[in-house]
Formats: sequence, C-alpha cells, structure tokens
Amino acid sequence: MGVVARWRDRLPVTSATPDLTLGEGATPLIAAPVLSAELDAHVFLKIEGANPTGSFKDRGMAVAMACAVGRGTRAVVCASTGNTAASAAAYAARAGIEALIIHPAGAVAGAKLAQTRVVGAAVVPIDGTFDDALRLAQEAADHGYVVVNSGFNPDRIAGQRTAVYEIIETLGSSPDVLALPYGGGGNTVAYRSGFDVEGVAPLIVAGEARERQTTIATAIRIGEPVHAPDVADTHAEVVTLSDDEILAAWTDLARREGVFCEPSSAAGLAALRRSRPPAGSTVVCVLTGSGLKDVAAVDSLVPTLPACAPRLDAVLEAARAASDARTA
Ligand code: F0G
Repeated sequence: MGVVARWRDRLPVTSATPDLTLGEGATPLIAAPVLSAELDAHVFLKIEGANPTGSFKDRGMAVAMACAVGRGTRAVVCASTGNTAASAAAYAARAGIEALIIHPAGAVAGAKLAQTRVVGAAVVPIDGTFDDALRLAQEAADHGYVVVNSGFNPDRIAGQRTAVYEIIETLGSSPDVLALPYGGGGNTVAYRSGFDVEGVAPLIVAGEARERQTTIATAIRIGEPVHAPDVADTHAEVVTLSDDEILAAWTDLARREGVFCEPSSAAGLAALRRSRPPAGSTVVCVLTGSGLKDVAAVDSLVPTLPACAPRLDAVLEAARAASDARTA
C-alpha cells in the first residue's frame, strides 16, 4: 500500500484523488549500533533511499501527483538538483501525464538524470543555478504547468510528513532528536509539521553545507533555501557543515554501519556529531537518498585497484595492500 492509500485520513485528498503509487513509504528504520556507542544514544537510521526512485521525494510526489491528477492536471514542472526530478518524472509517467524538468547544467549526478530521462520526461539543463531553475519553474505555472516543487506545492509537504507517522508507529513513541539534511528546507518543515500533527516536539537537527553553491553534496547545492523563513519557525538547530564533515559521516555510515547513502544524506549525521544528542536519548537520523544515485565521490575516496595477475597469491597481495591503504 502506498502513502496515499495508507494515510488518506491525514492527507489533503478528496474522493477524486486516485491511490497513485509506485510502492513508496514503509521504509526501514534500522538500529545503528556503532553510531549509538559513539554518540551514547539509541540511534536509528530511516532508510529513505529504499523508496521506489531511491529518495524521500517519492512520499510527497505520490501525494502531489495524485492530487494534481484528481484536479485534472495534464502537465507538471519542477526545478531540481536531481531527486525531485527523478521522482516527478516517474510519478508523471505512472499517471500518464507530461513532466518538464529544469536543472542546473553540469550539477546533477548522472544516475539521477538517467532515471529521469528513461521514463520520458522533458529534461532541460540551463546555464544557471538551482535557484534560477526554480524561478523558471514558477514562471511555467502561467503556461499550464502545475509546479511540484515543495516551495510551491503544499501537497508535497503533506506527503513528506508520512515519514513522521511511520517513525512514531515503529518506535512506539516520538524520538527525542531527529537529524536530517537541509537543502531548500522543505523536508525540515515537513518533519516539524508532522510532529505537530502527532502532538510531539522532538529536537530537530538540520545539517546544511557551508559552501551551499559548490558543495560535493550535489543534492543540497541550493544557494537560496526557499523555505528558510519556515525553517526558522521550526526552531530546528541548523548546523553549518564543511564538505569534509559531510564526507566523513558518509564514509562512516558505509564502513561502520554498512549503509550506503548519497553524500547529501549524511549531512544529518554530520550535524548530529556536532550537536551531540543528550545521553541515552532516542535519535532518528534520516538518510534521504540511496548511495547509488551519486557515486562520483566513491571514485575519489575509494580508488579501484588495477587488474592483477589471475593467481591467488597476487589477489591476496593486492587485497592486503588495499586494506593497508584504507587503515593508513
Ligand atoms: N537529501 C537529498 C538526497 C535531496 O535530494 C535533497 C533535496 C535534500 C536532502 C534536501 O531536502 O530541500 O527538503 O531541505 N533535493 C532537491 C531536489 C533540491 O531537487 O531533488 P530539502
């Protein structure tokens, strides 16, 4: 069951809204024993990369697209650093409507563009930033397109709140702390409003890149966060991070917990490390996207070995050298 069918009573849907779904939601919430020991807290990871297009965007997109279709929409538009694009394109294909995607040229991970193109969306790169793309998407609203960016589409935020309902259902109560990345801020706002619906008020720790326009975490490469005033209202603790801090959290999630998320998704853990949760508290760290979406950093941080001779002694020698290099 997708998020529209599962949470219909908490969503802005009508009898005309179809149960449009690709099977989003109900993502794993797994314990993180190594990070729990490090932070002296009970740390859980919400694996949003397990959604159908590989990111948390599918929750809000399922709802936004279902609502749009219910209102008779034939075409949607979004600006994106990649994940919103992939999600909008997939759900538009599922709904049988047109999707126009506008993105900053050269700044989006290749896998995200591939999954957007293959489902048939019109994918238009611009010589400009994400902020320029967002302005253009807004202008396209005057030309028959419904904007599915969360800053201009409250149905997206309503859909993203469903992650809160799942977390509380799984834990049996609210976490004390929730950590997540902060790009445009829509997700931070969605989590706070979801907790408000549930009548609880955990601390939200939101990690943003210091170098917003150039960070290695391409998904959160956003100069002007459209939700900044709303994020201020959430009373989230915003932690400004270097790329080194984000990358350290990202590699630790992979090596110590076996969880491969995209670099941007590790900003929540990086922020948590600075903020230090209260001892013994229950902490949920939201990992927003799958590592398979943005693999460029793997190549720079974890080099591949040259081919060796097809003999076991050569293979074991190469493995030893690689292991020494990792621990050096
Ligand atoms: N993590 C990932 C993997 C993202 O793709 C994004 C945003 C964020 C975190 C930040 O979320 O903007 O709600 O604060 N990606 C958008 C996109 C900008 O176009 O895919 P936020």
